[in-house]
Amino acid sequence: MLPPPPNRGLFFLVLGSICAALEFVAQANSATDTLNVLLIIVDDLRPSLGCYGDKLVRSPNIDQLASHSLLFQNAFAQAVPPEHCVVCVLGQHCQQAVCAPSRVSFLTGRRPDTTRLYDFNSYWRVHAGNFSTIPQYFKENGYVTMSVGKVFHPGISSNHSDDSPYSWSFPPYHPSSEKYENTKTCRGQDGELHANLLCPVDVEDVPEGTLPDKQSTEQAIQLLKKMKTLARPFFLAVGYHKPHIPFRYPKEFQKLYPLENITLAPDPQVPDGLPPVAYNPWMDIRQREDVQALNISVPYGPIPVDFQRKIRQSYFASVSYVDTQVGSLLSALDDLQLANSTIIAFTSDHGWALGEHGEWAKYSNFDVTTRVPLMFYVPGRTASLPEAGKKLFPYRDPFDSISEPVDPGRQTMDLVELVSLFPTLTGLAGLQVPPRCPIPSFHVELCREGKNLLKHFQSHHLEEDLYLPANPRESVAYSQYPRPADFPQWNSDKPTLRDIKIMGYSIRTIDYRYTVWVGFTPDEFLANFSDIHAGELYFVDSDPLQDHNMYNDSHGEEFLLSLMP
Ligand SMILES: *[C@@H]1O[C@H](CO)[C@@H](O)[C@H](O)[C@H]1NC(C)=O
Ligand SMILES: *[C@@H]1O[C@H](CO)[C@@H](O)[C@H](O)[C@H]1NC(C)=O
Ligand SMILES: *[C@@H]1O[C@H](CO)[C@@H](O)[C@H](O)[C@H]1NC(C)=O
Ligand SMILES: *[C@@H]1O[C@H](CO)[C@@H](O)[C@H](O)[C@H]1NC(C)=O
Ligand SMILES: *[C@@H]1O[C@H](CO)[C@@H](O)[C@H](O)[C@H]1NC(C)=O
Ligand SMILES: *[C@@H]1O[C@H](CO)[C@@H](O)[C@H](O)[C@H]1NC(C)=O
Ligand SMILES: *[C@@H]1O[C@H](CO)[C@@H](O)[C@H](O)[C@H]1NC(C)=O
Repeated sequence: MLPPPPNRGLFFLVLGSICAALEFVAQANSATDTLNVLLIIVDDLRPSLGCYGDKLVRSPNIDQLASHSLLFQNAFAQAVPPEHCVVCVLGQHCQQAVCAPSRVSFLTGRRPDTTRLYDFNSYWRVHAGNFSTIPQYFKENGYVTMSVGKVFHPGISSNHSDDSPYSWSFPPYHPSSEKYENTKTCRGQDGELHANLLCPVDVEDVPEGTLPDKQSTEQAIQLLKKMKTLARPFFLAVGYHKPHIPFRYPKEFQKLYPLENITLAPDPQVPDGLPPVAYNPWMDIRQREDVQALNISVPYGPIPVDFQRKIRQSYFASVSYVDTQVGSLLSALDDLQLANSTIIAFTSDHGWALGEHGEWAKYSNFDVTTRVPLMFYVPGRTASLPEAGKKLFPYRDPFDSISEPVDPGRQTMDLVELVSLFPTLTGLAGLQVPPRCPIPSFHVELCREGKNLLKHFQSHHLEEDLYLPANPRESVAYSQYPRPADFPQWNSDKPTLRDIKIMGYSIRTIDYRYTVWVGFTPDEFLANFSDIHAGELYFVDSDPLQDHNMYNDSHGEEFLLSLMP
């Protein structure tokens, strides 16, 4: 039986509750010692992790972190502002953004429309407003702030400097071997080197004899050792490159995932009811040499099933490789006796489709691409302080077949957005939480658009293993994706601003995901909600994989039009 479709009342309830912005302000940590922050950002990691219930993926170190953390089961990236969304729904002028790199959004605590970062081609301080970032705020509050690996998106979007000197106390560190990531370093079946998608390597054979994420871990550990000798608190951000493509990882990790054990996505077909505008043709995958050789038809493919298994194998192997890096880093933190004074936040910038709906990569509004892992370890709060001589984060070897299962830790089902990282981290560290942003906020340097999630860390909530908020229906996550055309074409995945013709606005609640694809004029950033190109509606309970589009059956169009003035 089908649950009732969302009705107008519910829609208003949802928007109204967000706008009311009734927010709990938790007391700052009363501990006298200032807490350090270790922020770990993994590139393109969906929650395919043991701690998120994945039975295949080996991630013992991240699972161990989860066991001492509060884990958010329903965290989503790529948010757009609810306030502006009301304006948009009512058909008025608004500056909506597109696939803005999610990193600038969560690192500034502003939704993409405020950063006005529509592609990778501008620096927000010049283009939108001189917005403070999370590390900048910590730096201004006496912290030593450091960046290792991919934290800001490189290039113009962070002024070719990872936003230095504003965000960081020292110039950010980039691993020297990063420059080989997209070069021909993958040994093919012909014995030659190629720029492949699947790139398990013998680390001793690759240029410099190392990989970027290994170098980042080593650098981060060196910095922790230096910090140990300083009397100042630190904020260290470590950005891992994998499992972003190409899947270039130490080849032994393949052994964890024998091909015969790899299944296809549970729903590997393009669903009948999927509007063509919603489909992303995964062009970046097709451009790799090994995929080109498969001569896959554009735009729908499919990829031969054997190769689908290999992609999934390499994605999971890359996740386990990153897990070992996280394990080494946290074990070092423990050895330096910093685990009792350091908050650890772990997240990712996006999800990644692994063949679900016949799709690969990101570039869509489905849960598989917008949902991200998110967890916070707070010493003395989410876990008791480690006893002297005991380790909270001993390194766990994913190859160890008898590795003991870990306690799942505390979890919350509440729907949250990545833009809440800024207020939540500052609150957990006992700093003053930046004020909520006014509308518009282009001229306000320090404010936040996300929610402060501190209420989740109150002791009476943490006592419950699984916390379900009293009114889960009040939480909503917003995302959006631009398209250049109604049908998939060469630039559907990443249209530049001037090519955007259609915008897909998406709402995820605990019950459903609802997306409308509407006309968009890039010159004016104008979405026309009278010009509906297609709609999607998926119910979480009856269709968790989002394969049965109920938009037409629920009269979604009339439902939306009924909101027009
Ligand atoms: C932007 O903010 C930074 C950091 O607060 C400040 O140093 C700089 O002067 C500001 N730039 C402008 C143009 O206001
Ligand atoms: C961006 O970097 C350039 C070159 O280093 C520098 O001259 C410029 O001031 C930077 N922009 C801002 C807004 O800081
Ligand atoms: C592969 O699957 C078989 C059968 O379920 C299982 O016994 C084996 O442990 C699996 N191998 C790995 C490496 O997970
Ligand atoms: C929904 O209706 C539109 C317009 O009539 C049609 O083009 C589309 O194929 C329908 N979608 C589904 C899933 O039935
Ligand atoms: C690629 O596929 C197309 C049609 O699917 C076919 O016409 C063409 O010959 C193929 N090319 C190669 C090199 O196999
Ligand atoms: C952390 O543990 C170490 C070693 O037991 C101890 O010296 C230090 O004072 C502790 N720090 C805090 C903030 O409890
Ligand atoms: C919005 O779309 C509707 C329907 O296509 C059209 O009639 C109207 O002119 C459009 N409005 C603007 C401002 O472009």
